[in-house]
Amino acid sequence: MHRHRFEAKHHKRLDSAYRRRILPPSTTLKRFGLKRGMVFADIGSGSGYFLIPGARIVGKDAAAYAVDASREMLALLAGKRPPSNVVSVHTKDGYKFKIEKRSIDFVIASAILHENEPVRFLKEIRRIMKPNAKLLIIDWRKESMRYGPPMEERLTQPEVKTFLAKSGLKTVKSVVLNSRYYAVVAKKG
Ligand SMILES: C[S@@+](CC[C@H](N)C(=O)[O-])C[C@H]1O[C@@H](n2cnc3c(N)ncnc32)[C@H](O)[C@@H]1O
Repeated sequence: MHRHRFEAKHHKRLDSAYRRRILPPSTTLKRFGLKRGMVFADIGSGSGYFLIPGARIVGKDAAAYAVDASREMLALLAGKRPPSNVVSVHTKDGYKFKIEKRSIDFVIASAILHENEPVRFLKEIRRIMKPNAKLLIIDWRKESMRYGPPMEERLTQPEVKTFLAKSGLKTVKSVVLNSRYYAVVAKKG
């Protein structure tokens, strides 16, 4: 089972001028440590908001995995002609990624954790992480605002920390990014 997932028909919301201003994708990825040569995975890559800049940062000699449970989203991404190092991965149920265990240096999961059973989802992310890999979670603050998922579906930063610990992951940083989102960084515990 999973919670309500974002629908591809709303994809334009993911790439608004406002979102680009408050959450600039390339700057955000670099700020949290994505570098040239790292093997990168974007879980729930959607229309490629983080995936495409991430693929450029790691460069053509490192893979950038675009993982999504929605074939429509993956098709949208393909339509954007992403860089040649992008590898598209469809996951049927969202809890099993066709990616080798311990193969990824940097994983991002943006605006997606609240859509899933957190521990089941995080354990699968942990499986694909190299021993020293970094996981960057970005999600909606649990505060009343006009946009975003319903309040009861949102997770607080302490809740995310607890779910990470239950999944064998250790929180190394937890910060508020802007009026909408926070970031939690984790490593293998
Ligand atoms: C709200 S969108 C966010 C897209 C992108 N991460 C961003 O920040 O712009 C959520 C995306 O995650 C996908 N998704 C949700 N749960 C997933 C799962 N367990 N595995 C793979 N994709 C998932 C949805 O299909 C959708 O494309």
